[in-house]
Amino acid sequence: MSLIGQPLDALDSPQLLLDLDVIDANLKRMFDAGKQRGVNVRTHFKSLKCGGLAKYIQAHGGATFLCAKLNEAEVLADAGISDILIANQIVSPQKMQRLANLAKRVQLRVCVDHADNIDQLSKAMQAAGATLGVLVEIDIGMARCGVLPGDAAVPLAQRISKSPGLRFDGLQGYDGHLQLIADAKERRGKCLEGLEQLTGTRRLIEKAGIPVAIVTGAGTGTWEFVAGFPGVTEIQPGSFVLMDCIYHPVRPEFGCSLSIFATVMSVQTKWYTLDAGSKAISKDFGMPQIKGKPAEAATRLSEEHTKVECDPVPVKVGDRREVIPAHCCATMNLHRQAIAVRKGRVEAVWPIEASGRYD
Ligand SMILES: Cc1ncc(COP(=O)(O)O)c(C=O)c1O
Repeated sequence: MSLIGQPLDALDSPQLLLDLDVIDANLKRMFDAGKQRGVNVRTHFKSLKCGGLAKYIQAHGGATFLCAKLNEAEVLADAGISDILIANQIVSPQKMQRLANLAKRVQLRVCVDHADNIDQLSKAMQAAGATLGVLVEIDIGMARCGVLPGDAAVPLAQRISKSPGLRFDGLQGYDGHLQLIADAKERRGKCLEGLEQLTGTRRLIEKAGIPVAIVTGAGTGTWEFVAGFPGVTEIQPGSFVLMDCIYHPVRPEFGCSLSIFATVMSVQTKWYTLDAGSKAISKDFGMPQIKGKPAEAATRLSEEHTKVECDPVPVKVGDRREVIPAHCCATMNLHRQAIAVRKGRVEAVWPIEASGRYD
């Protein structure tokens, strides 16, 4: 039986829900701000992993995406997205053929932080007759990948420019270490320091005679400080689409559209238990929240159960609850399908094609 048009009560549980009205409001807020500030908003697909949702975002004004992994880029291309940045280094020889095949289908870009990787990419693209856009990743404080801001990026940009099959497109500097800083003043101050370093590096490359088309960075926590900063051309947030109960207090302008639909399976004197646990709700950032029920506190997740403490206990066995996860990206990665709902009725059912994949 088709679920389309059915009310939530027709659903079995656990089930991953996406509230389309909340998604619409989140997209409008971010994309309108991008337009007002003259920056492109590139949406991060590692939070979403779902081709149907990417198509939906494209139809609502977000045509450009980034992702963390090659398999995510392939899912995006299959969904009809034609401008994709893999915001990572692709280094294994096994992935080079896939990368080249994809570069022939869509406008594809990757990040690099080492000369050897540039040579490897160039060789693979030449062999396949493909062209790949390349950004040099700058480490503006996260200490993950990237070269330090300043002179180190210049020879890499020069090398890319001279490499057949590659096109130097610009710089990426992602401030992942700042996204969840609760104090907005501190988050902004540290973010602006990183942006000075990133755009200073841009100027050095331009001084060496190489044009820099793209300078990209930011996540949901820092988007508003980066959007409109002189010398930055785009922002790349992802969590703003779905949000979660850890990010929401940092960025309350975006609503939580993702929830896990669950059923009360047991009622005790001071708690009840839901039929969804850590295999359905990521707990890597902490405990989830029960949507719209501040007096009901999720205190423990085991694999297939969530314990919810409350006094009195306001539910009976069989009642339903929606759980807002503490980490949206990791929760999407646990599910194979998303139920898109609007005003309590199912509007679409989308496979989450990239969930559980790391290649
Ligand atoms: C390179 C890069 N850019 C952007 C983001 C987006 O971050 P957020 O989910 O906080 O919006 C991430 C998140 O991990 C990232 O790794």
